[in-house]
Amino acid sequence: MLGARCLLLALRRCSSALCLKHPQAARLRVREALEAQEVSGDIKVQGWVHSVRSQKEILFLHINDGSSLESLQVVADPSLENRDLTFGSAVEVQGKLVKSPHRMQNVELKAENIRVVGPCDTLMYPFKPRERYPLEYSRQFPHLRCRTNMLSSLLRVRSEATAAIHSFFKDNGYVHVHTPIITSNDCEGAGELFHVRTLNKAQQPRENSLFFNVPAFLTVSGQLHLEVMAGAFTQVFTFGPTFRAENSQSRRHLAEFYMIEAEIFFTESLQDIIQVMEDLFKTATSTVLSKCPQDVELFHKYVSPAQKGRLEQMLKNKFRIISYTEAVEILKRSPETFTFQPKWGNDLQTEHEKYLVKHCGEVPVFVINYPYDLKPFYMWDNEDGPQHTVAAVDLLIPGVGELCGGSLREERLDFLQSRLEGLGLSDAYQWYLDLRRFGSAPHGGFGMGFERYLQCILGVDNIKDVIPFPRFPHSCLL
Ligand code: 4AD
Ligand code: MG
Repeated sequence: MLGARCLLLALRRCSSALCLKHPQAARLRVREALEAQEVSGDIKVQGWVHSVRSQKEILFLHINDGSSLESLQVVADPSLENRDLTFGSAVEVQGKLVKSPHRMQNVELKAENIRVVGPCDTLMYPFKPRERYPLEYSRQFPHLRCRTNMLSSLLRVRSEATAAIHSFFKDNGYVHVHTPIITSNDCEGAGELFHVRTLNKAQQPRENSLFFNVPAFLTVSGQLHLEVMAGAFTQVFTFGPTFRAENSQSRRHLAEFYMIEAEIFFTESLQDIIQVMEDLFKTATSTVLSKCPQDVELFHKYVSPAQKGRLEQMLKNKFRIISYTEAVEILKRSPETFTFQPKWGNDLQTEHEKYLVKHCGEVPVFVINYPYDLKPFYMWDNEDGPQHTVAAVDLLIPGVGELCGGSLREERLDFLQSRLEGLGLSDAYQWYLDLRRFGSAPHGGFGMGFERYLQCILGVDNIKDVIPFPRFPHSCLL
């Protein structure tokens, strides 16, 4: 049944210009071939050679085109072998898909013709067949590492996770918004901005003028633009690149990362935001686990054997909620010696986040109501006395630390106005104040770091290994 559907798909694709050169052979992706039981007639598979094994009477190849972790076995007469048919070469194999006599695979491709499309200089190629390389080694070759099993699995998981997150929001009635990448505001107010300028004076529209008339930056968050849109569409989200000029070489920070941000109008409490964060995490993760189990399994087997159990615990249990004040108390009572002494009013450090998650039984923990002075201007003032807090929430995850940050937004015009005045920002943010003048309502939202989310699902220690082309201080390869 599956085989027939694949063949039909392939035949339909066969009208493409490429296939017209070989009108008789239907082109199948490796994944489609592996899922097919048997296909009558000739097929053609294109991909890269993962292994070549030549025996006296038979030649075995494994080829892969990135569509599946598993490679397709090709069997051929040794006369089809040639000097260029090596590990890493790009090939096109034409032949018949037949039931395999081996227990390891359902089908194999009995080759009638093998064409080396692009040879590979195996002496210079940084990878060798059947070797498993540490992620740090592969990281040196951002232009080639996607050909390794580990990175190709990662990229398929990344792609499925992207789709799962979009589906979650779509299924729950959110409108997707493209927030701008170039912006004139610093949403987080931390000054970690990349300045956008034209390359040289000749490209400026006028002598001594800025291209946009105002200083412009790469966005650190789409939140403020999402607030605009949530004020018309009620529930919105964005999923795009975000940039931070943080001088951090940590295993959790990148200068360019992807963030999923949601904004919801007509909220009643922080609980509304917390619920969406937990639902998003659990729904998207379950979808990814069911869509690409083999790819996830590869990481759980070879990179982080404890992660599978951890993830099951996270999906099964209700996430915990504690206040920042409770968190500081827990840390103070802890027998652990911290490098940074926990103190009310100070930010939680990685070591603190780690301890809090352990204290709560290795389940994700929402920490709510942070000190007013620690958080950006847009957060709702809880007006709660000497230990002055805002309605903020951070989600801490075992092994990763902070995965999400969110808050209720300050929608009371007078509160917001005086906070912006105090920061000398009220002129620049007139438009933001307008949102509170014209049909405002309680609202809030959050941002989830996509790379940290992938680190969490797969148990990858370094964030540089879950993004195709990592950007961080002193490195912008390719
Ligand atoms: O906590 P953050 O800074 O929150 C915001 O930007 C809010 N404006 C989001 C919102 O409410 N719409 O960032 C959100 C998340 C963090 O929890 C973290 O997972 C991730 O983005 N993140 C980073 N990921 C990789 N590298 C960095 N340098 C990151 N900085 C933040
Ligand atoms: Mg944060």
